[in-house]
Amino acid sequence: MADTQKQIVTVGVTGASGAILAQKMLVMLEEDPRVTRIHLVVTEAGQRLFAEELNIASGDLKQLPSRILGYSVQKIEVLPNKDVGASIASGSSAVDAMVVIPCSMATLGAIANGISDDLVARAADVMLKEGRKLVLCVRDTPFNRVHLENMLRAQQAGAVIMPAVPAFYHQPKTIDDLVTQYVCRVLAQIGLSQEKMYHWTGTPASKKAEA
Ligand SMILES: Cc1cc2nc3c(=O)[nH]c(=O)nc-3n(C[C@H](O)[C@H](O)[C@H](O)COP(=O)(O)O)c2cc1C
Repeated sequence: MADTQKQIVTVGVTGASGAILAQKMLVMLEEDPRVTRIHLVVTEAGQRLFAEELNIASGDLKQLPSRILGYSVQKIEVLPNKDVGASIASGSSAVDAMVVIPCSMATLGAIANGISDDLVARAADVMLKEGRKLVLCVRDTPFNRVHLENMLRAQQAGAVIMPAVPAFYHQPKTIDDLVTQYVCRVLAQIGLSQEKMYHWTGTPASKKAEA
C-alpha cells in the first residue's frame, strides 16, 4: 500500500497476549502527523490483558488511552465494544484502515465467519466488505486446525494475517526493539511506513556477489 497523506485508523484490541504491541501501536499512531483520528475499541478480555500485562486498569473507558500512553492524547477516541451502532459499524464512515492488535483466536473466528456481534468484529467486517485494509495481528501458540482455517478464510476475504511473531535479523537488544520493529511492519501494511523501521539489505556475502 502506498503511503497516504492523511489517515483515519481503527485499532481493535482483544484478549490475546501482547498488550504491549497495542500500546506501541497507539503511541506511534498518536504521534504520526499523517494520522488525523484513531478509533480505539477494546474488548472486555482486551481490558483484562492491559491490566494483567501492563498494570493498566480500565476504570473510566474514556480515560483509557491517556492511561495507556501515559500522557493526554489528542487523536484517540474510545468506542464501547458493545456499541454495534457506532460510526465505524457502517461502511459510510471514513475509516481508511483497521488493525486488530493483538487479535485473539475468538475474534479471528468471529471475523473469519462473519459473526459481527461486537464492534471489533463488525468494524472488521465493514473493512472487508468495503475492500479496505484490515490487518489481524493474531496471537496464540500452537495453532489448532480451526485457527489455521480461520486465518485462511480471513486472508481469502481480504485481511492481512500478521502473526505477532518478533524478528531477530535487526539484532534487537531490548523488548522495545522487538516490539517497535514488529509494529513498524504492521504500520507499513497500512501505508504508514516509519523511518525507524529496520530494512534488511542483504547479507555481506550476497552484497559482495551483487557488486
Ligand atoms: C491472560 C490471558 C491471556 C490470553 N492469551 C490469549 C492468546 O494469546 N491468544 C488467544 O487467542 N486467546 C488468549 N486468551 C483467551 C481470550 O482472552 C479469550 O478467548 C477471550 O474470550 C477472547 O475474547 P475477545 O476476542 O473478545 O477479546 C487469553 C486470556 C487471558 C486471560
